[in-house]
Amino acid sequence: DKVCAIIVAAGQGKRMNKGYNKQYILLGEKPILVHTLETISGNNNIDYIILVVPQDEIDYCKKEIIEKYNIQKVLLVVAGGEERQHSVYAGIKNIDPNTGIILIHDGARPFTSNEIINRSIREAINYGAIVVAVPVKDTIKVVNKELEVVNTPNRETLWSIQTPQVFSSKIIKQAYDEGIAQNFRATDDAMMVEAMGHKVKIVLGSYENIKITTPEDIILAEQILLRGEV
Ligand code: CTP
Ligand code: MG
Repeated sequence: DKVCAIIVAAGQGKRMNKGYNKQYILLGEKPILVHTLETISGNNNIDYIILVVPQDEIDYCKKEIIEKYNIQKVLLVVAGGEERQHSVYAGIKNIDPNTGIILIHDGARPFTSNEIINRSIREAINYGAIVVAVPVKDTIKVVNKELEVVNTPNRETLWSIQTPQVFSSKIIKQAYDEGIAQNFRATDDAMMVEAMGHKVKIVLGSYENIKITTPEDIILAEQILLRGEV
């Protein structure tokens, strides 16, 4: 069975405030999305990629990202949806029927590593559903609309969730079919799987595997890139 990577890159990058999609910002010499695609495409355990982008950026991505930077393994470029979960679902609906494992990864996370990808695929084969995550560094409080602290969960139980999130294709397809049909809102893929009652396991990620979201993340990303090059 094949391993498919679905790269979701169909957001608008509003919090970056650039006026164009954050994934095209240059890091070093290449757009953020190219860094992400090169890592995923270069991984020997991934057989093919489905790239999900905004409808009106499909042609641009084919020419200016995939062709220009000679990205291999991209089988399809499909249009995303309103929320991240709709974009993921657009990818899932287009997988090759011989796919056993689906790895879902944010286009905006250029610093995942082969080590994390390999470990997460291996654990997904064993376990069915895994998410890459790191322990939170800050104390996290639950706060109500009046900005009053409601409670403080024990930090040792809290993890910051990243991508890749990797699943057996059967589990993630069923979770998304049900979740989307019920209009369930999930901020990550594992939430869909949790909602159908399947257990999800953590795979340790890295603090460098950041999601580029706000302008200060670019400063950090440039430093992480430099460090990786030495
Ligand atoms: N994403 C997607 N489809 C959406 C929304 C998000 O494919 N409708 C993707 C983004 O392109 C990104 C990843 O999901 O790679 C994580 O989302 P986020 O960091 O929130 O990116 P944006 O939605 O683009 O940014 P913002 O929320 O600031 O607008
Ligand atoms: Mg978003």
